[in-house]
Amino acid sequence: MPALSRLRCSCYGVVRMKTTPHRTTDVEQEAASIPRPSSAAGVHAATPQEAVENWRALHRGGYFRTHRCYQDRTHDDGVANLRRLLKPGKDDVLLEIGCGYGRVLHHLLPDVRRAIGMDIAAEPLDEARELLRGCGDVELLLTDGLSLHPVADASVDAAFAFTVFQHLTRAQVAAYLCEAMRVLRPGGRFCAQFLTGRDPGADVLDTAQEQSLGYTAAQICSLAEDAGLAVQTLERHLIENHKDLAWFWLLAMRPADPQVKPA
Ligand SMILES: C[S@@+](CC[C@H](N)C(=O)[O-])C[C@H]1O[C@@H](n2cnc3c(N)ncnc32)[C@H](O)[C@@H]1O
Repeated sequence: MPALSRLRCSCYGVVRMKTTPHRTTDVEQEAASIPRPSSAAGVHAATPQEAVENWRALHRGGYFRTHRCYQDRTHDDGVANLRRLLKPGKDDVLLEIGCGYGRVLHHLLPDVRRAIGMDIAAEPLDEARELLRGCGDVELLLTDGLSLHPVADASVDAAFAFTVFQHLTRAQVAAYLCEAMRVLRPGGRFCAQFLTGRDPGADVLDTAQEQSLGYTAAQICSLAEDAGLAVQTLERHLIENHKDLAWFWLLAMRPADPQVKPA
């Protein structure tokens, strides 16, 4: 098995995978040297509501039907990473934040007992309903862009977000990590991709297109820990043909509830 394996990424072409320990300061230095998107251009930091409205408009324009990255309708490599990190099992309830038209759940649904896919617009959820028909027990739910309501507390074994968090405001990501903590059972697993290499200080989420925000390793660990999740691993996967960009793959866990000592 070669040390570097080829992976394909939905929005950023072919990548090589490399595992590094988390809290890599070189990444932060690298990211800090990249020029910030200019708010002088008149673009302001989007509110969570604006970000949701922007995505709803993209879906009304047929986002998945027209986007060049979504024409193959499959994503084997991302799925392999999710299987390796999350280890979905046949008794598990699996939840995807930002499931789109169900491309990833289409692969993972047969692995689990039940799946829940959530997204902010009706159009991708309708497409997902079609794609996942007959593939297993799946519930597709519209979210407000910040919460996992009506999913019950401690009812999910594993949850993930794949090529989603870079398109969200920082407040939305923080809210979803807290929500993941709420819906996961103690010991439950959480996996998410974050984009790195983009200015980790920028808050500008251009509402005219699917612009992406970057994160440092330290920011990701703090977000997870502030939500109460325990970071297990943070892998950095380089993105070929995008000199300064990489994906971070976070694997975190809801810690087991502390044992109540008998009086
Ligand atoms: C780049 S697509 C990825 C879709 C899917 N994960 C996949 O890989 O095929 C991003 C998805 O995130 C959804 N999304 C955007 N903002 C969201 C939010 N605040 N909460 C949940 N989903 C959101 C979009 O509607 C879109 O379907």
